[in-house]
Amino acid sequence: MTLNDPVEPRTLPGTDLVLSPITLGTSPLNDPALAEAMLTGPYGAVDTSNAYAAGESETALGVAIGRLGSERRAVITKTDAEPGTGRFDRDRVLRSYEESLARLGLDRVQLLHLHDPYSISIKEAFGPGGAVEGMRELKEQGAVDLIGIAAGRNSLMIEYVSSGAFDAVLSHNRYTLIDRSATPLFEEAARRDMIIFNAAPFGGGLLAGRGTRYAYQESSADLLDWVSRAEAVCTEHGVPLTTAALHFSLRSPLIHSTVVGVGSAERLEQLERMRATEVPDGLWTALDGLGPAPSTVTD
Ligand SMILES: NC(=O)c1ccc[n+]([C@@H]2O[C@H](COP(=O)([O-])OP(=O)(O)OC[C@H]3O[C@@H](n4cnc5c(N)ncnc54)[C@H](OP(=O)(O)O)[C@@H]3O)[C@@H](O)[C@H]2O)c1
Repeated sequence: MTLNDPVEPRTLPGTDLVLSPITLGTSPLNDPALAEAMLTGPYGAVDTSNAYAAGESETALGVAIGRLGSERRAVITKTDAEPGTGRFDRDRVLRSYEESLARLGLDRVQLLHLHDPYSISIKEAFGPGGAVEGMRELKEQGAVDLIGIAAGRNSLMIEYVSSGAFDAVLSHNRYTLIDRSATPLFEEAARRDMIIFNAAPFGGGLLAGRGTRYAYQESSADLLDWVSRAEAVCTEHGVPLTTAALHFSLRSPLIHSTVVGVGSAERLEQLERMRATEVPDGLWTALDGLGPAPSTVTD
């Protein structure tokens, strides 16, 4: 099988990793057939982690990689704290990466993120024998080309980004139609020439008409009301809310790639149709007219 080039390829300095405006998210993935569809789909890379679906996400990708060989898209993964103990130091980072490579059946990935370092303080992360030392070591040894920091909480993320230790940043649920609180973080990352991923443009479901939760928490009545009004504005402009939510992220000049969760091959086709949709400029002005959404994200 011959793979076509990914859509709108974006080559990154310091690596042969090629991104598209969309990267496919795999947090609930456990199906090798879907993994295969993702790895041969129109976008440059798939985003997973050691911890997604308790390792099943990487395992499903590994089965698909075994079938596809090198005719496939790139895989970006993340190191995670030790399950149960929360231990997240240098040694755990190295072990997490080994576990990921074993599941994926790969000898390396180009980009590896430090994922959700919530069980450790910044001091511990950056101290001797800490998680950041482990990440730096992997890059210095050439075991990866690039290292990133992937998490939520803006106050924590700004510290990691400002440290200068990382090449890439992934934030989630904080640069969407509902919440723009990651803007200063992305601006700081852009000043540092970092690769910027914006994950969860649908807020995990609310902006895709999938349930009433935003950023994995129940929404307030005010937020649900704002979303209904935004949906009405989108309908007036002939654009589904989900498509507007995707394009809000795609149109930002700060963002290299938007990480979207896809649960089926049908979703993958819908996603490409949404990406290719032209959105009238007037929609953004009309949505601004609603005023800021009452986001439930506090950090
Ligand atoms: N700390 C981190 O590093 C971090 C945190 C969050 C997310 N991420 C990454 O970002 C990815 C995306 O996050 P997410 O999945 O939580 O949020 P999301 O992309 O905002 O939302 C995914 C939800 O949108 C729905 N959806 C997707 N395409 C749709 C379509 N065409 N029409 C209608 N509904 C659609 C999905 O429904 P179905 O379930 O029905 O398909 C799913 O419920 C994750 O998989 C992960 O790779 C990373």
